Amino acid sequence: VEPAAGYDGPRLAASGSVRVRVPAKINLHLGVGPRRPDGFHELTTVYQAISLYDELTADRADRLELVVEGEGADVLPTDENNLAVRAAVLLADHLGVPPRVRLHLRKQIPLAGGLAGGSADAAAALVACDALWDGGLDRNELATLAADLGSDVPFLVPGGTALGTGRGEVLSPVLAVGTWHWVVAVADGGLSTPTVYAKLDALRDAGTVPAEGVGAPDELLAALRQHDPRVLAAALANDMQAAALALRPTLARTLDAGLAEGALAALVSGSGPSCLFLAADADHAASVAARLTTHGVCRTVRTAHGPVPGARTTP
Ligand code: C5P
Repeated sequence: VEPAAGYDGPRLAASGSVRVRVPAKINLHLGVGPRRPDGFHELTTVYQAISLYDELTADRADRLELVVEGEGADVLPTDENNLAVRAAVLLADHLGVPPRVRLHLRKQIPLAGGLAGGSADAAAALVACDALWDGGLDRNELATLAADLGSDVPFLVPGGTALGTGRGEVLSPVLAVGTWHWVVAVADGGLSTPTVYAKLDALRDAGTVPAEGVGAPDELLAALRQHDPRVLAAALANDMQAAALALRPTLARTLDAGLAEGALAALVSGSGPSCLFLAADADHAASVAARLTTHGVCRTVRTAHGPVPGARTTP
């Protein structure tokens, strides 16, 4: 089986400038296993890349510099606390070149929303700087560097739809037919991923939620091969949802509002607090989104489709 929407290899940056577009991710199935000795949780997840994008431009420069505009520009760090900067430094180190690049990030993916925006920027920086510095890294090298930067970063290089195991960084292709239509409700303020994992552990220790969780994604994988939105709706599952709801009880109102407006399914995206709604088609997504907006249960509502390719150079 061909890897889903694989990375299409580096493109030379003849002009000294590379632009990369990178999508957000959602988890159609997020099964969280026990906490491992290294602090991470064993995952079985099905990722899908959706059409909410950040755009990163990498230009030749005499030092490493990051400028951010758009979502979160006022709060995001621009030093090595930013995952895109860490990605550039890690890649430069790996290639044995000085980390000289001006990164310009135009953000549309909400921060700390369970949509992997920071991981997306790291994937974009790896792909952009590899092209700018003519690194010529193959898929496996890119994936190894990506895994060093975060559990979700490897997926955002190929994008598409993929099964993630380990801490989420071990990817296998998934056969998915057609396009799915989503409504994304973006909450006010983010949730910290480690806090949500810790809450899930606490809820399981207290016996409030079952330790076995949502289990294997067999039903979801079968639904992806059928392309019936109602079948997919019944198969969506997220172990993190109980923990996100415990930390942010108002998310229940957001989920209910989307269902009341006709969404086929509602679930928390990753560790939240963004909420996802499955629609039957693009028109249905647009109408659910328009009506959901009137409920005042989130900061903003977007529509998106998936799967889409991962971090790619664009003209
Ligand atoms: O891998 P990443 O840096 O995105 O993970 C952020 C945090 O989320 C980790 O430090 C860990 O607390 C938690 N995490 C986890 N299990 C995973 C992935 C992330 O506990 N599989």
